[in-house]
Amino acid sequence: EKGGFDSFMDKEIHDQPQAIADTLLGRMDASGKLVLDEMNVDESVLKSIDKIVVVACGTAAYAGQVAKYAIEHWCRIPTEVELAHEFRYRDPVVNEKTLVVAVSQSGETMDTIMAVRHARQQGAKVIAICNTYGSTIPRESDAALYTHAGPEVAVASTKAFLSQIVACYLLGLYLAQLRGNKFSDEVQAILTELQAIPDKLAKVLENKQQVIDLAHSQQDTQSVLFLGRHVGYPVAMEGALKLKELAYIHAEGFAAGELKHGPIALIDDGQLVFIVVPTVRGRDSLHAKVISNIQEVRARGANTIVIAEEGDEAVREYASEVIYVPRTPTLLAPLLTTVPLQIFAMELATAKGLNVDQPRNLAKSVTVE
Ligand code: F6R
Repeated sequence: EKGGFDSFMDKEIHDQPQAIADTLLGRMDASGKLVLDEMNVDESVLKSIDKIVVVACGTAAYAGQVAKYAIEHWCRIPTEVELAHEFRYRDPVVNEKTLVVAVSQSGETMDTIMAVRHARQQGAKVIAICNTYGSTIPRESDAALYTHAGPEVAVASTKAFLSQIVACYLLGLYLAQLRGNKFSDEVQAILTELQAIPDKLAKVLENKQQVIDLAHSQQDTQSVLFLGRHVGYPVAMEGALKLKELAYIHAEGFAAGELKHGPIALIDDGQLVFIVVPTVRGRDSLHAKVISNIQEVRARGANTIVIAEEGDEAVREYASEVIYVPRTPTLLAPLLTTVPLQIFAMELATAKGLNVDQPRNLAKSVTVE
């Protein structure tokens, strides 16, 4: 059932092009308009919401953090992302005009279930983004938008993460379409670009040998840092989480802009640092800012592994190594840049002789608070 792969995780990483294609399937009509039949929340309610709160844990929360950048941009609705266990116990401001989006692969994460219950008690509408049919979270929500990633067996989440981002984006695009905002051209363009992601993901996977070799050369590494900015920031945190879970290595993800406010003190000779570089045509010259972050850590002796889009030659000068991924719009880049980080964590754990499907101390779904 591992389909010829060494582990479920390896299989699930390679399932990702199909998982994205399946999550997109049947959700657009012939004219390219989004049709989300399962969205059985009154359109009038969806038009009147004035705040979105995404609640989730772990990797699912990072998917929410990526989606926040996109949803706020397309919908102009203030969007917060909160860890479900923090949300539940801080008396959050939620009411009939709040849309709560609960993201969960299993649909059985107790912390997220409790957040859903709390939100509904306050009168909020809750939409579940879930990978498991008929599980508790979609059952207890007003509507469910399923990710069609297929069963995820490995404890560490991979294909569910990318599918969660896609499903959150579909929700954001749907709300933008419904509320008829001024970004409608961009919304159409993004839908077209989303369809191209499975092929681009296949290309990322074709180039995996570079990442495998890198991971095997780093077996004795004690600590790895990940830097990202904009949508690359949650990707950096996800890369760090995968490495902690699978390879039991101390890892941290930072917003690249935060470096000089403290974390740069960690940089010493030989420190391994991954940098997720924003697209060249991205907003607000973020690209140039991240290049200067690479330069700063490199000047202090860091071993800099850069993930950048094809054609980005500017990153080469300060990179120990560059991992290129195909070009895509800024907001879609996490669907590609996450994959080398997943492979790195899996291969490093494999090189250390660890069981990548069942890391120590972890369970696939956390059904206690
Ligand atoms: C990390 C991981 C966990 C889950 C988290 C939420 O690889 O798998 O962080 O993402 O426990 O689980 P779900 O999505 O089932 O609610």
